[in-house]
Amino acid sequence: MNKADFEHFIGFLKTKAGIVITTEKAYLVENRLAPIARKHGMADANEVLTKIRQMPSAALVSDVLDAMTTNETLFFRDQRPFDQFRDNVLPALMERNAASKRIRIWCAACSSGQEPYSLAMMFNELGPKVAGWRLEIVGTDISKTILERARKAEYSQFEVQRGLPITMLVKYFEQKGEAWHLKADIKNKVSFREFNLLENPRALGQFDVVFCRNVLIYFDHPTKAEILARIAGVMPADGHLFLGGAETVLGVSDKFAAAPGLRGIYVPTAKAAARAA
Ligand SMILES: C[S@@+](CC[C@H](N)C(=O)[O-])C[C@H]1O[C@@H](n2cnc3c(N)ncnc32)[C@H](O)[C@@H]1O
Repeated sequence: MNKADFEHFIGFLKTKAGIVITTEKAYLVENRLAPIARKHGMADANEVLTKIRQMPSAALVSDVLDAMTTNETLFFRDQRPFDQFRDNVLPALMERNAASKRIRIWCAACSSGQEPYSLAMMFNELGPKVAGWRLEIVGTDISKTILERARKAEYSQFEVQRGLPITMLVKYFEQKGEAWHLKADIKNKVSFREFNLLENPRALGQFDVVFCRNVLIYFDHPTKAEILARIAGVMPADGHLFLGGAETVLGVSDKFAAAPGLRGIYVPTAKAAARAA
């Protein structure tokens, strides 16, 4: 791999998506870009890197960013955040929003949709307790391809076997051939939009709760801090932020503090309010 092209590519990925890779990851780049080279009629990943350094088309940039994202996800990933949402965060939220009976959740970096759809199914399971309430879930991701999959809401046998209780599979999905299709009533509770976490989310509106899980791990320290500050800007003072198991705000941002007694959940600090104003 041409050293200058590769070094340029590291900078390109960081600027466009915030994703940090090191020179040791050349094999990963080669593997992931080989199909993109074929799609765009190029010889190999090296040619893609050269093109990215010269004058890449918007389609090539989009395909390359798609290929370099890691979309690993599953239904009810880690389970505990979903239980905490249902048992601790939601009751407080229902008290606070009793007048509007509306709750808005943002699943930032939602991948193929399992996270927002898990929330939608879990909410539906609450039945009469949430009758009359409107839950609005917005799923966003930088990858066009993965968002197309999320919107389709069709999952393989392997995907539905990961994390999804069998009772929910039977209740909320229809099997068509090899695939399991999520039924419309749950599917319609989630809307999807392309969104890069390096941009300002203000246009998405305000959210009571933000799930931003298993994506900050790909960014460097300053980028994480900037993203957390922007998330704080679209949440009320008593909002809740859910991060992934390997992620924290501690030592990264003063806009959030750990929610007392709730591991992996964070609440905006007074500093978030002061600077967002
Ligand atoms: C590992 S998945 C996490 C999915 C889900 N949140 C979960 O925890 O299961 C990470 C997602 O982050 C997305 N991503 C990476 N960089 C991004 C960026 N700059 N802006 C928005 N999404 C990004 C990827 O496309 C990928 O779908």
